[in-house]
Amino acid sequence: MRGGLRCISGCAGWSCLRHNTRDLPTSLLITGASQLLTLGGCDPRRGAALAHLGIIQDGALLVGDGLIRALGTRRTLEALPEARGAKILDLGGRVALPGFVDSHTHLIHAASRAEEYEMKIAGRSYEEIARKGGGILNSVKKLRAATSEALKRRARQALAQFAAYGTTTIEAKSGYGLDVASELKILRLHKELAADQPLDIVSTFLGAHIVPREYRESPTGAKRYIRLLTEKLIPEVAQAKLAEYCDVFCDRGAFTREQAKQILEAGKRHGLAPRLHAEQLTRRGAAQLAVELGAASCDHLEQVNSSDIAALAKSETVATLLPGCDFHLGLEHYAPARKLIDSGAIVALATDYNPGTSPTVSMPMILSLACTQLRMTPAEAITAATINAAYALGRERHIGSLGVGKFADLAVFEVADYREIPYYFGMNTCWLTIKRGVVVHAANKTAH
Ligand code: NIG
Ligand code: FE
Repeated sequence: MRGGLRCISGCAGWSCLRHNTRDLPTSLLITGASQLLTLGGCDPRRGAALAHLGIIQDGALLVGDGLIRALGTRRTLEALPEARGAKILDLGGRVALPGFVDSHTHLIHAASRAEEYEMKIAGRSYEEIARKGGGILNSVKKLRAATSEALKRRARQALAQFAAYGTTTIEAKSGYGLDVASELKILRLHKELAADQPLDIVSTFLGAHIVPREYRESPTGAKRYIRLLTEKLIPEVAQAKLAEYCDVFCDRGAFTREQAKQILEAGKRHGLAPRLHAEQLTRRGAAQLAVELGAASCDHLEQVNSSDIAALAKSETVATLLPGCDFHLGLEHYAPARKLIDSGAIVALATDYNPGTSPTVSMPMILSLACTQLRMTPAEAITAATINAAYALGRERHIGSLGVGKFADLAVFEVADYREIPYYFGMNTCWLTIKRGVVVHAANKTAH
């Protein structure tokens, strides 16, 4: 690959670009993308439209105040009067696309669960480990004992890694606190982190992840915990604007469909939009509940049946697939992505970054799994990880595709063709990540 970073005022190299983009009074002309994947437009993609990447060969972008001011071929943009005097960032023939939108993460947790990983390899199932007090309850215990500072430090490191793999926006869920103080602690950290590091964070309240240990002893425990969620936590979270969405893990060992409905309706009454962990381990009717409630997304979907697929296909609810979970848990049954796409559902992809089922921040790895395990094409996987994921977070007017007026959020890969992004797996080919016109990651250098 040729090219690199240069400043037309004469100074050379990386530090100059970083200085100039950080202080930003002038505009930035990003040129030399062998393929610029625009994904044009703000609408979510269904069916055959998932394959349309809107590629500009030898593409360029003009950026001002963190927004895209113009895009087209290098030749067209270089001729624009507004581009005169702009700083130049030459991508040297690499491939550029909208920054990934990771629409499902459990960002804040205290520690890994590597000991459970070993138990799973030895043959114990995820549910068996959870029944013995491992699983989510294990992470709850660790989180409650952790200080906000320690949690924040770990999350900041993860966020730098998200950026290093080309992600520019994440959704983040609470759900490892499960008492008033600890859930609020997590949600406040979302807010603090959103303010003091470059990636955007969309906050989701997942108090209904599982019934916590202290409510499990008595037969009325679940009911009392749901009352705590609907009568105290949801109103408080909404009032303090600590979350935009409310999520429920609806599955065997977690919450029933009826309980999920009750919790999500309470969330809706307080202005929290619903989303759901649905049909992951067992089919509970959560996908159709998501459609009935007009949820933004229902996520996992390994166990959906044909009537669920038909309901999703007719709806605006995004079907978010998380193949990292099945891979990490060593499961053979992945979600029926082909049927979902071919029926017309809006399909998105996310990491589900969490310590129990999917400890990865790498969207490129998720794309690799989507291609080999879900039989999605590279183009479909990229669409699912950008514009469709942006739609799942209600952010499609600002992110997820490249267009005039949208955020200059970009991921640049050290590849010659976009298909090589999923083709190479387990290695990081992300060369540069740009958030609102500012470089937030450069290979071998981190611009924080
Ligand atoms: O999305 N399914 C529920 N929640 C997480 C797993 C949480 C955990 O095991 O810690 C998920 O897979
Ligand atoms: Fe999850």
